[in-house]
Amino acid sequence: MSADANSQSDVETVVETVVEVQKLLNKIGEFVLHRELDFEVRAGEVMTLVGGSGSGKTQLVRVILGLKRPSAGLVRVFGVGWDDPSYARVRAARERMGMLFQNGALYSAFTVYQNVAFPLRERGGLDEEAIRAIVYAKLAQVELEPKHADLLPASLSGGMVKRVALARALALSPELLILDEPTAGLDPDRSDAFVRLIKRMRSEYRFAVLMVTHDLDTLHDLSDRVSVLADQHIIASGSIDEVRSVPHRFIENFFGGERGRRAFTAA
Ligand SMILES: Nc1ncnc2c1ncn2[C@@H]1O[C@H](COP(=O)(O)OP(=O)(O)OP(=O)(O)O)[C@@H](O)[C@H]1O
Ligand SMILES: [Mg+2]
Repeated sequence: MSADANSQSDVETVVETVVEVQKLLNKIGEFVLHRELDFEVRAGEVMTLVGGSGSGKTQLVRVILGLKRPSAGLVRVFGVGWDDPSYARVRAARERMGMLFQNGALYSAFTVYQNVAFPLRERGGLDEEAIRAIVYAKLAQVELEPKHADLLPASLSGGMVKRVALARALALSPELLILDEPTAGLDPDRSDAFVRLIKRMRSEYRFAVLMVTHDLDTLHDLSDRVSVLADQHIIASGSIDEVRSVPHRFIENFFGGERGRRAFTAA
């Protein structure tokens, strides 16, 4: 066990809201990207964030991950703000999240094994034998074989890269998994397979998911709730049906277009 394992149990409180963003102001230089933005992800749910390209979805994820400091407003993950003075609390909250980034999913100089082992080594407290057991178990969960462990990312297909990145995101058994465009760049079959995989993992582990996607089929298959980012803030939040009925240009185009009709009538 790591030196601060005991202190972690003190600070891991059970919260119903795993992500809480209130009145966020987020500027990039003088440019205001988010203003008066409220957003939440509840324990165990799949919350899908949609919005036009460049509307600031990835940047919002970066703020939630603590990679970007907001200009004003409240951001809490598992009840902890990234400016919390307790390093143990911040670290414990960080280790309860797993992230699958939109681009550059894997470390290109590391093998599959080293990529999945990375967060386990970062956390510390495990010997190589324990790390190996977890890495191979995670690879099996995402339907990769042991023989793939020594490959470098450059020799993997797009679908395999996503699955290795998912194995890495799940290495610490997170309670919140963040997925930024998880099916972008995959063909429809691979995309369906990836959605099935996430569904299956969730039915086993019940983690919450914050997912960014443009893909209506993925949204339809996975979401419990949807939030729409437009005009610098969240303009609608709720079930798919609740959100679809909100009168707004982006919502009408996104859900009401030909793609939207196909995704929502096929079920
Ligand atoms: N470092 C930066 N400097 C200036 N502008 C930036 C910077 N980083 C991001 N932006 C701008 O912030 C806006 C939001 O970017 P973001 O990546 O969050 O969009 P997005 O909603 O994720 O889009 P997409 O759906 O295409 O992934 C974009 O207009 C982008 O140009
Ligand atoms: Mg993005």
